[in-house]
Amino acid sequence: MEHFVFSEAIITQLESIVGSSYIFLDEETRNHYGHDETEDYVFPPGVLVKPANVQEISEIMKLAGQYKIPVVPIGGRTGLSGGALSIHRGLGISMERLNKILEIDEKNLQVTTEPAVITQILREAVAEKGLFYPVDPSSQGSCWIGGNVAENSGGARAVKYGVTKDYVLNLEVVLPNGDIIRTGANTLKNSTGYNLTQLMVGSEGTLGIITKIVLKLLPQHTHNVLLLVPFYKAVEACQAVSAIFRAGIVPSALEFMERDAIDWAIKYVDGLNVQVKDEIEAHLLIEVDGNYPEILFSEAEKIMNVLEEFHIDEVLFADSEDQKNAIWKMRRNVAEAVKSNSIYKEEDTVVPRYELPVLLAGIKSIGEKYGFRSVCYGHAGDGNLHVNIIKGSMTDESWKLEVPKGIREIFELTVSLKGTISGEHGIGFVQKNYMDIAFSKAHLQLMKDIKKVFDPNNILNPGKIFPDIM
Ligand code: LAC
Ligand code: ZN
Repeated sequence: MEHFVFSEAIITQLESIVGSSYIFLDEETRNHYGHDETEDYVFPPGVLVKPANVQEISEIMKLAGQYKIPVVPIGGRTGLSGGALSIHRGLGISMERLNKILEIDEKNLQVTTEPAVITQILREAVAEKGLFYPVDPSSQGSCWIGGNVAENSGGARAVKYGVTKDYVLNLEVVLPNGDIIRTGANTLKNSTGYNLTQLMVGSEGTLGIITKIVLKLLPQHTHNVLLLVPFYKAVEACQAVSAIFRAGIVPSALEFMERDAIDWAIKYVDGLNVQVKDEIEAHLLIEVDGNYPEILFSEAEKIMNVLEEFHIDEVLFADSEDQKNAIWKMRRNVAEAVKSNSIYKEEDTVVPRYELPVLLAGIKSIGEKYGFRSVCYGHAGDGNLHVNIIKGSMTDESWKLEVPKGIREIFELTVSLKGTISGEHGIGFVQKNYMDIAFSKAHLQLMKDIKKVFDPNNILNPGKIFPDIM
């Protein structure tokens, strides 16, 4: 990857746009903004700026167009596909100063926010008004809502409530040429022209820089019931997933954790007293929510009837808020726990949920073929299985040469099951070489043509999503 070289003239002009206290050339700052949560990659920007508002961002993009500067918008840096990595050492734009919730519209159940608001803070702010923003990625305590929109983040409640795209009504976006547009309207329905709002959602910072977001909200519900269910056979835990829906229940969360995932996460967080028997291969974490406890208990009973068909051990019904929080904390920390155990690669497979048992079995046998161990967990209700491939004692050579072949086979399997290669983490830098598995040449070309219309100079987050455009 070629590195961009900043001239004195460019630096002076950037300085005059953002002010001298908001431009950074020192190594420490650049390194800090040079990584997200993707494996151990570090690609620092050559220069990092912290603009104050949409006008400054617009001016920056005009300047970038003039000098063909590669620009990477940088959010909370919790991404898992390397979207925020400055692979050309170009200009990093940290969005951190656009960090205000602008309006909670209780009359219309909407919130207008800037991108650099931590998702959990946004969720808590609307909850104080009795409103509910359901999308809660595991990283909700540190990820930003702007990044969630850019990646179309999901999380544990997507199974009932949907993902980020289902809540975005309207966006303010700075286009690569510096123009500022509104993509839609603050309405629940909109049949007016092409749907640029949804094109922007999940575009991974390659089509525009999101500066304002209007989200739909729901009324806050009052109750939930949480069950942690140990299965003797992992494949049966996967089979139980679609059986629960077929029994007429839509849980508000339905998460799967393989044995290693739960063991490592329990060790990693304090305060969770769960004993797991040696023979247990996997757990399902099942939640139902609503306003009427008696309905939730009868749903939980129905779920128990479904589960009786499988070989399960004693079910843990969380009996206090503290216990629920501890269980969720454990679940949210699986990724970090795995990371702290070994070098790893995380894949984000997704299939129609009934195919989960086939996917899990396939992943294990592909792992055997290529000599790697995997730890699988994720949003089973969505058919979204995170596959952590563990380096463990593998040689560097097999890690480099064999694992990509195995990943390719795993993705071929997901696509053959009518799924795809990323459910919620995005393609970014690390999955782009697998795009040919998910898309035909014609389909990929159409996407590249769209990128060209928005960004003819290929300056905005270049080298992401597409294998052959750097
Ligand atoms: C999770 C993140 C890694 O599900 O997507 O924990
Ligand atoms: Zn996830």
